[in-house]
Amino acid sequence: MVCLGNICRSPLAEGILQSKVDSETVFVDSAGTAAYHIGKKPDERSIDVAAKYGLNINKQRARIFEVRDFDIFDIIYAMDENNYQNILLLARDEEDIQKVKMILNESNPNENLSVPDPYYGGNQGFENVYKMLDEACDFITKKL
Ligand code: 4NP
Repeated sequence: MVCLGNICRSPLAEGILQSKVDSETVFVDSAGTAAYHIGKKPDERSIDVAAKYGLNINKQRARIFEVRDFDIFDIIYAMDENNYQNILLLARDEEDIQKVKMILNESNPNENLSVPDPYYGGNQGFENVYKMLDEACDFITKKL
């Protein structure tokens, strides 16, 4: 799960998908395409909305997306168009490129919708993001 800062959207996506899958068989992680927040906990507003729905994402720490993530993961979900393009810039070959998907295409196929960046808004934005990601992760879970 990849967003810009790895403190708002992708930590929620990681926590939500992790809660729906068998951790013995599916490894879920998240990262950001920008380095601003490396090592930080998720944004308090993400922690709060996750807690409201029974998820604890407190232990996550922000990290940057790295080329080696293409070797570790089978699917790389970008939260928005900018993240998608920035991940593709690091792709080494066609196999890497094929791993990168827009997460909302799971719930809204072929629309290339972005999860809106909630960082500069209020709590409602985080609630909205949670609901979008929860729906997308239900589709992902069914596929897995
Ligand atoms: P995220 O949100 O990409 O969902 O983690 C953001 C977090 C931080 C910033 C922007 C977006 N920032 O500009 O610091």
